Amino acid sequence: MKLAVEFAREDFHDPDFSATLMAWQKQHGRHTLPWQNTRDAYLIWLSEIMLQQTQVSAVIGYYQRFLQRFPDLASLAAAPVEEVMAQWSGLGYYTRARNLHKCAQRVVAEYGGVFPSDPLLLADLPGIGRSTAAAIAAFSSGRRAAIMDGNVKRVLARVYGVDTYPGERKTEEMLWHRAEALLPEQGIESYTQGLMDMGATLCTRSKPDCARCPMQPRCVAYNTGRTAQLPVRKPKKASPEKHAIMLLMIANGAVLLEQRPPSGIWGGLLSLPELAGHVAAPEEDGHDANAVEDSELLRAVEPFGTMESYERLNTVIHVFTHYKLHIAPYRITLAQRRMMAAQSAYVWLPLAQLGEAALPAPIKKLLLELAGSP
Ligand code: ADE
Repeated sequence: MKLAVEFAREDFHDPDFSATLMAWQKQHGRHTLPWQNTRDAYLIWLSEIMLQQTQVSAVIGYYQRFLQRFPDLASLAAAPVEEVMAQWSGLGYYTRARNLHKCAQRVVAEYGGVFPSDPLLLADLPGIGRSTAAAIAAFSSGRRAAIMDGNVKRVLARVYGVDTYPGERKTEEMLWHRAEALLPEQGIESYTQGLMDMGATLCTRSKPDCARCPMQPRCVAYNTGRTAQLPVRKPKKASPEKHAIMLLMIANGAVLLEQRPPSGIWGGLLSLPELAGHVAAPEEDGHDANAVEDSELLRAVEPFGTMESYERLNTVIHVFTHYKLHIAPYRITLAQRRMMAAQSAYVWLPLAQLGEAALPAPIKKLLLELAGSP
């Protein structure tokens, strides 16, 4: 039966993947990590929680010390949370430690101190998500369940040439379906460990060791020269575009500058006055959406002098880290300049002093390029 989703389990059926992976894991994978070679769910759960956001090499010491202090679930559940936090201190992501303690207490209260083997029940406990539940169930009970972390996403994206961003909901859903369809009938422990080992040791984010990889002959990324491109990185959000109309008023060899408000971009710096009350807009198909009515310019300029002529200069784009600013400049020549007491935020800066003035870099550049030209 085809599922209502865009892919069905049988589309992803590929027993060669698990067979190849398990054979590689047995020969080349990791077999002596401190949490291996046991079926004790407490020991496995603790390791999986520590390994959620911390690398194996950093976890090992903490894991061993933690077990000296809390050798079993009962001792952990009975301890004050402060002591659990103290043992965790240095590992980071402390929500993990609080959830660990809560989880221990719930397993004692709800399951008589024995972790359930059903991944769905495990995933209902604090700090245990779908993937961690699958790892615990696989390693402690041999239950067939799929894990999915950054390493697994990378391996699957490369081997199968998944060229959409794995963090996106649809792609992630597809990867879960794929991961479930790939599970072997037998040997879930070495399969799960193999996925982790391959992701951590061969199929690394940068410089993957394809020469030693058992998937090399069938890896889509390798065979199409795209190991550096897959998995696809998180798409960058297009930076928003802002528009401003700036007035470059020139009279008697000086330019009118305005002190900007203390907060916001260029806070407190001198800059060009902006045409207020006019919604600056993107240009469309050669049409200048920033064309300003003469009367509007006259009104804006009037407090500062008598307008003789004006010219719409080319738009300048300045790229900030979080947005792009399109500056539509108008160069306005004043026959006479006025200065009133209420204009304390404004100064007439002689053009000859532009070089030394404390101006935002793009404004200074604009002024030096344009103000001087006849
Ligand atoms: N990362 C998450 N779980 C792991 C495990 N059991 N062994 C090695 N690395 C892991």
